Amino acid sequence: MRPKVFITRQLPQPALDLILPECETEMWTDELPPPRAVLMDKVRDVDGLLCLLTDKIDAPLMDNAPRLKVISNCAVGYDNIDVAAATERGIAVGNTPGVLTETTADFAFALLLAAARRVVEAERYTRAGKWKTWGLTVLLGQDVFGATLGLVGLGRIGTAVAKRARGFEMRVLYYDPQRRPEVETQLGITYADLDTVVRQADFLSIHTPLTETTRHLVNADLLRKMKKTAILVNTARGAVVDQVALYTALREGWIAGAALDVTDPEPIPLDDPLLTLDNCIITPHIASASVATRTKMAVMAAHNLLAGVRGEPLPNPVNVVRGERVP
Ligand code: GLV
Repeated sequence: MRPKVFITRQLPQPALDLILPECETEMWTDELPPPRAVLMDKVRDVDGLLCLLTDKIDAPLMDNAPRLKVISNCAVGYDNIDVAAATERGIAVGNTPGVLTETTADFAFALLLAAARRVVEAERYTRAGKWKTWGLTVLLGQDVFGATLGLVGLGRIGTAVAKRARGFEMRVLYYDPQRRPEVETQLGITYADLDTVVRQADFLSIHTPLTETTRHLVNADLLRKMKKTAILVNTARGAVVDQVALYTALREGWIAGAALDVTDPEPIPLDDPLLTLDNCIITPHIASASVATRTKMAVMAAHNLLAGVRGEPLPNPVNVVRGERVP
């Protein structure tokens, strides 16, 4: 009998071309994620689940899926999945690291430049008919070239952002729980404790996974330590930033601006006060959204799914399991 899989959103064709010949497949094709009750129902008799970061995959859901062998997340981050619960139940979890690194770093830099030079605000200014003349003090921003970039997290994406910063002759400071001397030498960047990075950064870019340690890492206390001219960039996870504190910081001028590709919750409610601020750019979690990268992510997720339903080790595992479903 062919393994049965549920896919929580329409996948690019190259990924489906891998899955369909091997699996009895059901795919949720709505634009919005399957509601919780639907997901609970769909996993009842599946061997594999391919999901997105918008799907909450927790212990009760796993307990409703007695045959489930693999949860393949089409994302590098997997804070939407209770990995410990999956491991306890012998369910393999996979993600899509590597293929989205450069695309995400490009976007982090796009946000950094856009916030520094007030690109979004300037475009709105033009369309609103406010462009009357060339003025010496119109829409002044912050220089990127030669500025100090503070990176919180030096994993793949943080490192890729540091590489881009070299082209702008930025001084790069980073904080990561794990020091990376070889990257320091290779890219000419400097390790410092979090406090120093935060205090010295002209741009502070977040590249950490969301964990209980990093939740609200960027809080009022941290924001108060930043330079008044500094800009915060977040392409990691929304909940790493305390958005209430960020609103106060932006409104009261503790920092100059922020650019967020991720919010908590997502989508950001339209009445969120952050959306009233000119010095805050908010994009809809699109840092990895290039045609090529999204296809690579889906293909990688398909390979994880197929390995999981075959009972083979996943090409990109998040957890270590015995390889058989615990009853
Ligand atoms: C996107 O945020 C991802 O984790 O891949």
